Amino acid sequence: MGSPGQDRRRELAPDELPERQFAGLLKSVVVPRPIAWVSTTSTDGIDNLAPHSFFTFASEVPPIIQFTSIGRKDSWENATETGEFVVNLANLENLEAINESGTEYPPDEDEFAALGIEREPSVVVKPPRVAGSPVAIECLTHETVEFGESVVVFGKVVHVAISESVLDGDHPDIGRLAPMARLGRNEWSEIGRIHRIDRIPLDQARRSGD
Ligand SMILES: Cc1cc2nc3c(=O)[nH]c(=O)nc-3n(C[C@H](O)[C@H](O)[C@H](O)COP(=O)(O)O)c2cc1C
Repeated sequence: MGSPGQDRRRELAPDELPERQFAGLLKSVVVPRPIAWVSTTSTDGIDNLAPHSFFTFASEVPPIIQFTSIGRKDSWENATETGEFVVNLANLENLEAINESGTEYPPDEDEFAALGIEREPSVVVKPPRVAGSPVAIECLTHETVEFGESVVVFGKVVHVAISESVLDGDHPDIGRLAPMARLGRNEWSEIGRIHRIDRIPLDQARRSGD
């Protein structure tokens, strides 16, 4: 088998495919995506829980994370109206429950109750945390940015809770965290082989080129 560089490539502009098909293609190559298991509470006091794999770290200082609502969904509405949300780590142990909470329940139905997922109070914000997830990141909604039907929700991190059982000293251990990632289609993945490689300081990089 040749390297990808020797292959003929398929060149595609967005307007050459139906838009959902083009998006599906991108979702299959922007991988693996971490999954934010987002808990919120509506202005009526109903808790909500849903996975979002359009999720990443947006800023170190100040600490800001983001998720994208593709369409105006309950998580977006609650995070926007109440100004609060929690990102729970989507781990292997909760795989089935995470997937089940991706079912489109109506806004007046609480996924925690519907699916028997245990909640625990947050420390700073009102939405509850998932008791069985090893990490909870409590956020205040900082800003939203719209792209057509999608809305990116940025949250300022105000508190993090990490289970002692996933810590190795002061550091979260990747094997114990066991995060799940989203791939294309209906595929999910666990963490694969870990490679440890240090960053190379500039003077060392230059010396090795001598
Ligand atoms: C693994 C996984 C990842 C998902 N990622 C997203 C996402 O990034 N954005 C989105 O809008 N929906 C995503 N969904 C679909 C939502 O979870 C689903 O529409 C859910 O019902 C939304 O719930 P809500 O209306 O309570 O916010 C994902 C579903 C799964 C199973």
